Amino acid sequence: DKQIFSGIQPTSIPHLGNYFGAIKQWVDMQNSLSKDQDTRPMIISIVDLHAITLPKDPRILNDYIYKCAATLVSCGIDPERNILYQQSQVAYHGQLSWILGCKVTMPQLGRMHQFKFKSDGLAEVPLGLYTYPVLQAADILLYRATHVPVGEDQLQHLELCRTIADKFNNTYSTNYFPSPIPLQGEFTRLKSLRDPSKKMSKSDADSNSRIELVDPPEIIEKKIKKAVTDSERLISYKPDKRPGLSTLIDLECAVTGQLPEEVAERCMLQAIDKSEYKKHVSKLLIEHLAPIQAKYKKLINDKKLLDDILDDGAKKANKIAEKNFHDICKIIGSR
Ligand code: TYM
Repeated sequence: DKQIFSGIQPTSIPHLGNYFGAIKQWVDMQNSLSKDQDTRPMIISIVDLHAITLPKDPRILNDYIYKCAATLVSCGIDPERNILYQQSQVAYHGQLSWILGCKVTMPQLGRMHQFKFKSDGLAEVPLGLYTYPVLQAADILLYRATHVPVGEDQLQHLELCRTIADKFNNTYSTNYFPSPIPLQGEFTRLKSLRDPSKKMSKSDADSNSRIELVDPPEIIEKKIKKAVTDSERLISYKPDKRPGLSTLIDLECAVTGQLPEEVAERCMLQAIDKSEYKKHVSKLLIEHLAPIQAKYKKLINDKKLLDDILDDGAKKANKIAEKNFHDICKIIGSR
């Protein structure tokens, strides 16, 4: 049976990279799932335990858990049809993480790009930053997930998750854990608006580098206006030579489903220049996000509803996790 699982860190409001790289895929999958008899409800986790691998003010973390939940529901994740929950409300994640940590080596963890990037320059590197991918493997394997829709930056973690699952299966002569495969959408790596050599990221210190899903129209306009391009006046799609401008075209395509070449050709024919084009892209984004933002505005003020959604999700997740964790304990010889 197919089991889809994915996660998102509540470290800020999700941005367009999260949206086009992951969340939109989740919504599309949910909408096609009902027709697919062999698939169990999709499981989406707000991974608050991953969010504390680097220091986090408790009030801010708490706030972002709600904001993240509200954003996901506003984007179209239906908490009735799926399991939407907060990671720390299912204690088995931590427990399985310990068991899986016994099946991975220190060099394997030391090779992770994200670890190298995030620990670079830190005077003290927290252990949690290092074992982050083990907890991520536990998230996925606890539900025996087979498919994990993520952006490109998570592929290495997914690969390690498969290695850990294999190691566990081989050690205990079982095939209990499936080998989860990543699913990628069309936009697997949206770039930063300020530096196209980087990905759009929640942790970038420059907030102009990303557009958050609930940014008001004037902020979206400002951020697109400030987006780094180049000195050519007209529009063409050349991701290598003109990465900044090409990211703007990617955004238009992500919203409208057109091909980048079509967009570039239309702009050429109409001799549209960069500042006009930026206005056009802002308008498209503002229109696309308007219904999401309208839902968000209502939801974020209804804490009781958000609590109910997350508590209900945790109940459903715990039911599956409890059974699986019990089976895993038996496999390792515990009782
Ligand atoms: P996180 O919270 O950084 O990002 C959530 C999802 O958004 C994708 N993403 C992007 N996609 C395209 N372009 C970008 N610029 C961009 N930035 C982010 C990410 O690839 C991700 O799919 N470790 C995970 C959270 C996690 C998880 C899991 C994911 C914890 N456990 C189990 C899947 C399965 C993370 O930090 O995602």
